[in-house]
Amino acid sequence: MDSGKVEVTAFSLDPQGAGVGVVDGREYHIADLLPGERAVATLDHQSPHRAVAWGSVLRRVGLPSPHRVTPSCPAFGRCGGCTWQHLDYPAQLDTKRLRVLDAFAAAAQAAPAGSAAAQLANIDLAPVVPSPRRWGYRNKGKYVAGLRDTAKSGGASPRFVLGAYQPRSHVVVETLGCQVVEPVIDEVATWAAGAAGAAGLAPYVERTGAGLLRYLVVRANHDGDVLVGAVVPARQDVAKLEPLASALARHPAVRSVLALVNARRDGSIAPAGAQVVTLSGDDKLVERVAGQEVRVGVGEFLQVNREQAEAMYAAVAELAAARPGTRAVDLYSGVGGIAMALAGAGAQVDAVELNGEAAAALAEVSRAAGLPITVHHADAQELRLPGHHADVVVVNPPRRGLSRSGQRAVLDLAPRRLLYVSCGPETLAQDLSALCQGGYRVDRALPFDLMPGTGQVETVVSLERQ
Ligand SMILES: C[S@@+](CC[C@H](N)C(=O)[O-])C[C@H]1O[C@@H](n2cnc3c(N)ncnc32)[C@H](O)[C@@H]1O
Repeated sequence: MDSGKVEVTAFSLDPQGAGVGVVDGREYHIADLLPGERAVATLDHQSPHRAVAWGSVLRRVGLPSPHRVTPSCPAFGRCGGCTWQHLDYPAQLDTKRLRVLDAFAAAAQAAPAGSAAAQLANIDLAPVVPSPRRWGYRNKGKYVAGLRDTAKSGGASPRFVLGAYQPRSHVVVETLGCQVVEPVIDEVATWAAGAAGAAGLAPYVERTGAGLLRYLVVRANHDGDVLVGAVVPARQDVAKLEPLASALARHPAVRSVLALVNARRDGSIAPAGAQVVTLSGDDKLVERVAGQEVRVGVGEFLQVNREQAEAMYAAVAELAAARPGTRAVDLYSGVGGIAMALAGAGAQVDAVELNGEAAAALAEVSRAAGLPITVHHADAQELRLPGHHADVVVVNPPRRGLSRSGQRAVLDLAPRRLLYVSCGPETLAQDLSALCQGGYRVDRALPFDLMPGTGQVETVVSLERQ
């Protein structure tokens, strides 16, 4: 085999949907190769620092996996969104479980021999709880505005499109027709693309800084009501959104149209603190979370899979053994799905959240519903609750996991029971390693699938203080 090619059998799937195999000690990630499949691949890129390379199938060897299915989405492979659509659903669940087990095993291996973290290699991980819906489950669509060059295919001029960046590029792939978002979201996004095109609205071009519309965020609630956020680079651009806003306001499902001013170049769409201007309707959408009606805008974090999030919150409250008299802390609470599930079971909850809008939304709903929740608008890494004797602490940080001070804050609370909810198996495993070294033992781990078709997996881990 010459140096630009390799013959690989994949044994797992990475989060980007590439099959992973090892040849002569080097790890290969091959696009469109499923676990169990073999191929001769060409190499596209090799890491200068590690024994890892990425490639594409040149020629398949042997039979396709019995779990290979035809992806439903026409943009599969180009949009970079649901990269596991070519794997059947039971195999997706098994592969997500393996992803968590692999992360735990790697953390156990990296820990000093005989240390408390070595237990991570032997965790009894439950099967992944399947999502009730495999399609149309996402309550939020995020779209990049761009132009598609129709001239090449005989069209007159470039057409306004809404879509996603192609992986590792700034080429916008149209994603209208996406089957993963709730149908009303696709309908509103299609309506918006038509209106923006008809109004001659220019998509923003990151390279030059020219143009108006950067992103469109479409959020739907449990009743099918929709809030649309249009992201522009500067305050003076807001007025130019008028034709789009008035067209959107005519759609029967649209309740709110907001403009967001975001000049950042770090890929964030609706960063905390971005200026928001209401163009039409209410400034918030009422969403049902843990049985309560919460008012949310564009930027607050909400789990995208409503039904499955509710199942997960109920499991957290059960593992927490929450009942009247339980003192609980919910760190990284967002708008409070977990805090409200704990409070609903009778616990007294301190909820800690950095995003001001999310903290205010939780404080408002707690007051209105008479829930025993004290909301702290604060950094969970820095906040200390002196004299607080928590029976249970729940921690649900962003994917990057806990910093050292975040781990310290959790350990300082010293609860009998600690629940860690995470969407990042690798950072979860590293944090569990530190928490085990800090005196905790894992007794249950329960993964949930909140995003079918993707490599994402959410894991609830229950730990007990030794
Ligand atoms: C994965 S979300 C979880 C939210 C919530 N538990 C839920 O299920 O909806 C993480 C949350 O942590 C918040 N966050 C991020 N950094 C934080 C920090 N340093 N302190 C407190 N909250 C933070 C984010 O704003 C977000 O709401």
